[in-house]
Amino acid sequence: MTDTPHDDTHKEGPSRRAFLRGGALAAAGVGAGVGAARAATPDPLITEVQPWAQFLGDGVDVAPYGMPIRFEGDVIRRNVEWLTADTISSINFTPIHALDGTITPQGCAFERHHSGAIELSKPDYRLMLNGLVDRPLVFSYDDLERFPREQHVYFCECAANGGMEWAGAQLNGAQYTHGMVHNMEYTGVSLRTLLNEAGVKPEGSWVYAEGADAASNGRSIPLDKALDDCLVAFKANGEALRMEHGYPVRLVVPGWEANMWLKWLRRLTVTDGPVHAREETSKYTDLMPDGRARKFTFVMDAKSVITAPSPQVPIRHGAGPLVLSGLAWSGRGRITRVDVSLDGGVSWQTARIAGDAKPMALTRFYLDIDWDGSEMFLQSRCVDETGYVQPTKDALREIRGLNSIYHNNGIQTWWVKPDGEVENVEVG
Ligand code: MTE
Ligand code: CO
Repeated sequence: MTDTPHDDTHKEGPSRRAFLRGGALAAAGVGAGVGAARAATPDPLITEVQPWAQFLGDGVDVAPYGMPIRFEGDVIRRNVEWLTADTISSINFTPIHALDGTITPQGCAFERHHSGAIELSKPDYRLMLNGLVDRPLVFSYDDLERFPREQHVYFCECAANGGMEWAGAQLNGAQYTHGMVHNMEYTGVSLRTLLNEAGVKPEGSWVYAEGADAASNGRSIPLDKALDDCLVAFKANGEALRMEHGYPVRLVVPGWEANMWLKWLRRLTVTDGPVHAREETSKYTDLMPDGRARKFTFVMDAKSVITAPSPQVPIRHGAGPLVLSGLAWSGRGRITRVDVSLDGGVSWQTARIAGDAKPMALTRFYLDIDWDGSEMFLQSRCVDETGYVQPTKDALREIRGLNSIYHNNGIQTWWVKPDGEVENVEVG
């Protein structure tokens, strides 16, 4: 509840007065709890001196680099064993069901490698810029640090996010259905700056980017995009990129599918067309029912999901005040509205957007409800600044059929049962 204070004018949520009244009654030791607070009853956690107050805590030298407290040990990336033949060319998922706010800590941000995460030091790092340029250049890590820097928050979403859900509800958790996404604050040099340094020849129209890993993951990026907002990034969330996210340098391609976000960025070649030399370059297409394929579907369309409650976050407290929390994002700009339905899309209420919705970044939304304890079919539907409305899964299937893997941005449904358990389902 960071942006809007609860008050009596806020209709959907429990009123502030109800909270205060609950507190007053509890303090007086009378009456049952009102709102989300509980009435005071004898509680050893209040009345007894606890162990943590009887002994001294850790000194400042115990954790030079801190990890989350052990009670949060469940908030981790997870992979799905049957999804890939091995864990080297594989993917794991961000625990979005357990996070709040918008920034994804690097340590639990999903990973996708085609030939494993590599250890590449700053002294060993080189970035080559060649092809249709006036001056082919090579940058060391230190060289990159001497160009003017920028900072931006962007989401990074694998085109395969939601890919297992095309044929119907399959994986039971927001982490698995929507967790191939992360959102970080990047520091780096604009790719435009480096391209201008080399001088792009008039025939140049694409940039072929490659990584230093064995798979190299070569991808072609239209020159317009490369000159627009791409970043050659070396910091994420204030610190160096983690190895698994491309240390020491990765390419950031805002709003576009993550396979173009080259990690361990090694070479940029300006070309006069897309390079199809590698199998992977033509892999990210969407197979249509008639056998044709959608190609160059680079932009990630607007999408949203309720992160809690969700299958991994059942409701444990029964009926009463309930915070619905979720994420929305669009590769075409800002999220301007998120609607939430409790009845599978029959009726909708507009959710609160927390903080400023940044373009091409995860946006947090909340809806505070008073749950009556009956079943709900929770859905969220977002709108971006272009006016694009997130479609239903059926609407997507009507156009794309069932052969697709990539670019599933359909509306997610969570079935909340009276006992608070939550299941991934589809309605309609
Ligand atoms: N870059 C290199 N060099 N090698 C790779 O295997 N995988 C791509 C992209 N960049 C890949 C890469 C894919 S498909 C995705 S989804 C993103 O990196 C994942 O980035 P992350 O591991 O930081 O989440
Ligand atoms: Co990917």
